[in-house]
Amino acid sequence: MPVAEAAARVLRVLGTGGTIAGRAASAHDAVGYQAGVLPVHALLEGLPRPAGWTVQARQVFNIDSKDMSAGHWRALLDEVDAALAEPSVGAVLVTHGTDTLEETAWLLQAALAPAKPVVLTGAMRPASALAPDGPQNLMDALVLATDERLQAGGGVWVTLAGRVFDAASVRKVHPMRLDAFAGGDAGPVAWVEGGQVRWLAGLPVQPPVAVARLAPQQWQRAPWPRVEWITSHAGADGALVRALLLQHRAAQSGAVAEAPLRGLVVAGTGNGAVHAALAEALGQAQAEGVEVWLTTRCAEGRVVVADSGGRAAQRWNVCPLPPAKARVALLLHLLQRDATG
Ligand code: SIN
Repeated sequence: MPVAEAAARVLRVLGTGGTIAGRAASAHDAVGYQAGVLPVHALLEGLPRPAGWTVQARQVFNIDSKDMSAGHWRALLDEVDAALAEPSVGAVLVTHGTDTLEETAWLLQAALAPAKPVVLTGAMRPASALAPDGPQNLMDALVLATDERLQAGGGVWVTLAGRVFDAASVRKVHPMRLDAFAGGDAGPVAWVEGGQVRWLAGLPVQPPVAVARLAPQQWQRAPWPRVEWITSHAGADGALVRALLLQHRAAQSGAVAEAPLRGLVVAGTGNGAVHAALAEALGQAQAEGVEVWLTTRCAEGRVVVADSGGRAAQRWNVCPLPPAKARVALLLHLLQRDATG
């Protein structure tokens, strides 16, 4: 017998709800169910534990992720940050609804830049389904979070349907399929197969936008700045932006209690093109102090700005992230700017 055995590393599993914790009245119903019902402890029941690891589960909240709010994100950031700071914790796993999972993944990556791995997973079928996908996804996530390569590299990762994606690239691309997630032109970075991780390439070392870790007091401040996301499309006339500016002025004057508009993410057509009428309204928003960031509404790729100018608008900061994540990035940028004055 060894004189002293190495203490088991802790894998902290944080439950936040979603379909993976959902229940329907019938095992045949994979649509009319309620998300965020079962506690995270129940999801882990019967699953094999990674050798050399102790699994500790905590419920942060239990919601349908469509209802994610700044308050939920603050609570999750607190939990993940506290877990990562514990020397015995080697990895964090978050069970999450799939609808806003890509936003939370980028939030955790950008705000925490974790040196230890943080893995998110969810499911497309409720736990009560005849053939639920949650248990396999969770098993894969346990394997991924404790993978030696991730132990060395840290970062935020997502696994569903056996595929692994980085936090910047991952997007939900299908409302029903079990393999509902994709990594755009980055593709999956690895597969989890038979309890092993098969890496397809080197770990991406740099996220596509510069991220500076936030201090807890920066994200703990409430309310968070209001950042909205709009899309350029045929017939876009800027009316939505003008309505937001009315709200912005009313909030600034104290006429309404809502937070004033601070940022706008615009999902342009193609290579970040914006309808002329919408562009005019956005110019007005900028003139009134609203930060405008541009990305593309295309499912893959990012806006390329030519040195010579041209169609890709140069009037706004171009963000290389898809719209939902660009909104998170702008939120964090404003939180940081507010904190540094
Ligand atoms: C949710 O996002 O909480 C519900 C949908 C899902 O998890 O697939």
